Formats: sequence, C-alpha cells, structure tokens
Amino acid sequence: MNKKEKILFVDDDESILDIASEYFQHKGYPVITAKNGLEAVKILENEKIDCCFTDINMPEMDGLELAEHIRKTDNTIPVIIMTGYPSLENTIRTLKNGVVDFLIKPIKLDQMEVCLKRVLREQLLFVENIILKQEVKGKKQLKKLNKELLYKVEELNILNKIMSDFTIISSSSDIFKRLIDTTIKIMHADEARFYIINKAAPFEITTSIPNSAGPNSAGIDKATEKLIMETVSDAMPLLISENKGAGSLPEDILSFMVVPLAIRKKIFGILTACIKKSSIRFTEKDLYYLSFMTNKAAYTIENLALYENIYENLFSTLYAFVKAIEARDSYTQQHSNRVTKIAIVIGKEMGCTSEELDILNFAGHLHDIGKIGIRDAILLKPNVYTEEEHNIIKEHSIIGANIIGQLWLLESEKEIIKSHHERFDGTGYPDGLKKEEIPLLARILSVADVYDAISSNRAYRKKMEENNIINIIKEGRGTQFDPDVVDAFLKLHNEGVIEKNLYKAT
Ligand SMILES: [Fe+2]
Repeated sequence: MNKKEKILFVDDDESILDIASEYFQHKGYPVITAKNGLEAVKILENEKIDCCFTDINMPEMDGLELAEHIRKTDNTIPVIIMTGYPSLENTIRTLKNGVVDFLIKPIKLDQMEVCLKRVLREQLLFVENIILKQEVKGKKQLKKLNKELLYKVEELNILNKIMSDFTIISSSSDIFKRLIDTTIKIMHADEARFYIINKAAPFEITTSIPNSAGPNSAGIDKATEKLIMETVSDAMPLLISENKGAGSLPEDILSFMVVPLAIRKKIFGILTACIKKSSIRFTEKDLYYLSFMTNKAAYTIENLALYENIYENLFSTLYAFVKAIEARDSYTQQHSNRVTKIAIVIGKEMGCTSEELDILNFAGHLHDIGKIGIRDAILLKPNVYTEEEHNIIKEHSIIGANIIGQLWLLESEKEIIKSHHERFDGTGYPDGLKKEEIPLLARILSVADVYDAISSNRAYRKKMEENNIINIIKEGRGTQFDPDVVDAFLKLHNEGVIEKNLYKAT
C-alpha cells in the first residue's frame, strides 16, 4: 500500500479533532492536530504536511491567517476551511489566501474524505504543473543563453574579420575599396558608397554594387546629400532602418546607414550602405559594426599616412645625398634615376608585384648611396682604377647597406643595395652569392646598372656603340647576370622600350 498523505487538523473544538483523527487514522492517513493557528505554524515548521483542514474562528491565530501563512511559505499545501457561518466576505478572503475549498459545519466525515481526495489530486496536478513550468522555463533560459552565445560568437567573428581585413592593408588607396567591399559582405547591403567630404560637399570616390554591370556611380541625389551633410555636422552615425517614404530618401531605398569616418575628430569621409531589394533591414547592430569598421579604417589610414610620410621624407633626404654624389661626377648624373627606370620596366616585364616595384624604386635610386663614403680622389679619378682603389670602390655596396640598415623597416631595400654587384656565377661582391641566393630585385638592378654604366660616357672612356653594349649584356647571360633577367631586358630592348622611350627620354 502506498504511503498516505499526512493531514493536519486545526480546530479549537477538541471533539472535532478527535473524531476527524480517529476517522482518518482508521483510513490509514497519518494525522496531526493543532488547537489554533499558532500551534499549526509550529508543526508546519517541523513536519512535512500534505493537506490542512482548519477552522476559522480560533484564539491566538485564526484559520484565515494560517491559510495566508501557508500560502506564503509553501503554496503546494492545500488548505480546506471548515466554517459554521459562511459569509461572502469570508469566502472572498479564503479564496484570496489560496484556500482551495471550504466545508460547512456540521461536516460529515465521508464528505471530508471526498474533499481530501479531490484536493490531493488537484495538488498533485498543481505540483506537476510547477515542475513542468520550471522545466520549460529552464529550457527557454538555455535556448536564450545559446542564442546569446551564438550572437556573441557571430559578433566576435565579424569584428575579427574587420580587424584582420584592415590590418593587412599596405596602401591607403586600398582602404576605401576595402570599406565598401566589407560593408557589402558583412551587412548584406545592396549598395555601398564612400565619399570624401570636400569643402562641405560629399565627393564620391568609390562604389560597390554587387552583380551590376557598367559604371556604378550615378551621381548623388539631393536627399542623400542632405543626410550625408547632416551626419557630417552631427558627427554621429545615422540609421534609417525602414524608409517610410516621407521624402527624406529616394523611394527605391528600403533601409539606409550613413557612417562618418573621422581622423583626429575631423570628419573627412562618409560611408553609406543601403538595401534596395532584399527583405532584411539594417539594425542598430549593423550600425555598430559599420562604425567599428570606419574607426578601424580611420586608424589604419592615419598610421599609413604617418608611415608614407616618414617613408617619403626619408627617401627624399637620402636621394638628395645620391644626387649630391652624382653631381660631383658629370658622367654619372642621373645614373640612379635611369637605372631605376630600366629596372622597373624589367621588373614589370618579369611580373613583379607593385610592392616589389616600390622596393625596386627605392633601392634603385639609392643603390650607390654608399659612394658617399668613398673619397673624391678615387671616385672621380679620370683613368682606370688600381686594384687597391677598386677594392675601396667595392666597399660602397656594404656602406650603402649599412646606411639603409640603420633605418626602420627597410630590410629588403638594404639587401638589394648590398647585393647589386653580386654576379650570377658567384664571383661578385661583397658576399659572392650566386644564382637565387642573390635577391631577384638585385639581379634585375644589376643588369640595369651595368647597361646604364656602359651606355654613358665615363671619365676614363667614351660611350660604346649600342651593339657592343648589347653584346656585353648577352655575354654576361648566365655568368654575370641572371639569364631570365637578360631575356626580359633583351625583349624590352628589341621592342625599343628601354632605349627609345625610356632611356633616351631621360
Ligand atoms: Fe654600384
């Protein structure tokens, strides 16, 4: 037999307590009795009670107060009120206090039992319902947490993507394109545009409209221009999640964002994004991503500008030295400039990247900067050098590399300057490097350098015939020079690129 529920009877009439106790104990229920509310409260503190029958009018604490106490401490215990004088007021109070039923005195015992069974059944359902609700709540909570986690992960991924996208940019001109491409990709925008704010008017510099043919720029409409200029003056990003067609935007734009790009608090650019076709709309979150991105872009632009400025300054200073060296010798004037031009066309012919061509430009102009350390008496000597003098001259590639090596971030340039007199067969200087040990850009520079040197008048000899010059280069193919570089050079020379267009023009 199942263990039966424990019942608490509360009544100041002891005869009722006795009769009820006897009856229910006989039926197998454990029974506890109390003479008033206060006694009952004490029992409830120590016993697990499953159901409580209580009278209303009792000394010390009445039945309704007891019912209220039970509702507050454990609302799973059903309370049944037994009263001789039911009134409307009492009925309302009992219901308010969580009383589940009331019986009118004189009460028949079998009536009490029916009532007990019913409330216990209801109580079971009530408890099950609470457990179920808690489970559902728990699941909902879990679902919510999961969703939040996914959201955070997505956010982190997007921010990371933006960070890495803008960290690898090496030129400020790429940034604007990257801004609008990333906007299209991350925000799923139909269009993104970037404007430079020029004397209080936006000037569109780049646009991205996926899957569209032909030129994208259709000019700026008045409404958009007004919104852009408002954003500039407010210095705050703007979100029009849903275009209500109140005349502030063209009708074909469904959702719109305008985000300023400021450097040192001065706005110099505006990024716009719009949705024209899809059913999605921009949200505050999108605006946050876009603002994060423009901040990152602004920071990158500032850094690059700083770096480009330093690089430019450095270059002009160093090149001034080279020009000063060349100016000392009328035969070598403009030598570095011509060598650079030849080297760059060879580099382009051989498929060098724009970054490599930049390095070649820098190293080409400065390849002989080390001659600053060679005495004029040797450098400007009108006849052929002695072996000792030649050894001194040879030092210029190391001196040059040391000068450039002192500078920040010019490692490739330094290596090229150092190696521009290395020979493909390993008999050059200063390190006797051979073949691919010599940096490609140095191998290119070497051909350009020799070609220009033997093409010009020198203090100790006259300019050679072009055929002889070309023969010397050809003879050096595979010994002094990289055969691939010579081939590229000869092709360009045959096409007249070097001699006619470039070399003679300088
Ligand atoms: Fe040199």
